[in-house]
Amino acid sequence: MKTDTILNADIQAIDLFSGAGGLSHGLKMAGVDVRVGVDLDPACKFAFEKNNGAAFLLKSVEEITARELFGFLNKPKFVLLAGCAPCQPFSKYRQGKCDESDGRWHLLRSFQRLALNMAPDFVTMENVPRLAEQQVFHDFKVSLEDAGYHVWAEVVNCLRHGVPQGRERLVMMASKHGKVSLLLPSRNVRKTVRQVIGKLPKLQAGKASASDPIHQSAGLTPLNYARIVASRPGGTWRDWPAELVAVCHQKKSGKTYPSVYGRMEWDKPSPTITTQFYGFGNGRFGHPSQNRALSLREGALLQSFPKSYQFVEPGRAIEFSKIGRLIGNAVPVKLAESIGRSFVAHVEALQTLRQLA
Ligand SMILES: C[S@@+](CC[C@H](N)C(=O)[O-])C[C@H]1O[C@@H](n2cnc3c(N)ncnc32)[C@H](O)[C@@H]1O
Repeated sequence: MKTDTILNADIQAIDLFSGAGGLSHGLKMAGVDVRVGVDLDPACKFAFEKNNGAAFLLKSVEEITARELFGFLNKPKFVLLAGCAPCQPFSKYRQGKCDESDGRWHLLRSFQRLALNMAPDFVTMENVPRLAEQQVFHDFKVSLEDAGYHVWAEVVNCLRHGVPQGRERLVMMASKHGKVSLLLPSRNVRKTVRQVIGKLPKLQAGKASASDPIHQSAGLTPLNYARIVASRPGGTWRDWPAELVAVCHQKKSGKTYPSVYGRMEWDKPSPTITTQFYGFGNGRFGHPSQNRALSLREGALLQSFPKSYQFVEPGRAIEFSKIGRLIGNAVPVKLAESIGRSFVAHVEALQTLRQLA
């Protein structure tokens, strides 16, 4: 697969559950013409539109019709219906068994309904690996196959696509026109934390960079400051002196949760960036050498958003929970770019075959 040219593959895309546009941005970088993103969270609108030059429709995917979505397309040669339904019902961070009691479970069925009603050339979906074991995913896949699509689905390692994280994701790609699958970049694109955030200006906990308000880190209580000072890269709270260890971790049952209050390592990938990566106590989100948690910009870069990606209007207050949600929920841009490039390559092969026929 070529990785150095931007191609125009005549593919127009609709992005369901678009969020702030991680999936759309990667598709766009691959040359796909993203026409509209649909999401019911108004916080996504600015970032989605500003960085992707596409329309944003504030609406529930449950209420939208195929006809409405067709209205956003402009004489497309090929149509791609893309989406990443909320993954919380299937996430390993969710305790207990997955069941249909979570209302968001049905959102994948809404995606399926739209795919079957629109009958686009291509469909793609990204989600957490656990979804692969669920009936709702099996039903989606089989319904596409019954409708004549070639469906490919696999759990992939984002690191191999240029995302500096040990993040695994389920990717599904379907085509009406033949076999399609996720192509790997042609060269090694693995990256470390140092390569991605190592050159950002230094910051103190609770402060923002003068040049980029998103390069801002959350404040630390005196106790958490003492804890991060006592933390070593790749270590856990087990390295701390006893007086710093949280009461819940002192109990026998707490000893099994070493993956909070950690510092990242410079020369490794980061852990999976969640919606709460800006909090030192929420995972291994301590900066490798500065005494603070990751800044919002660092989280965005580790999700492979470009450095210039804007999440809020200039001058607006920075809300950690809102921006953290947009960043942590996103499909990593580089993974999305690989998905886009794979569809572009698929279309190029189809066009070549048609010319030869
Ligand atoms: C996993 S995130 C998608 C991230 C996005 N694809 C990206 O790459 O940035 C799921 C999104 O679904 C949205 N959502 C939840 N319920 C929805 C619904 N009923 N209709 C539309 N969007 C919904 C959430 O607001 C959230 O932005």
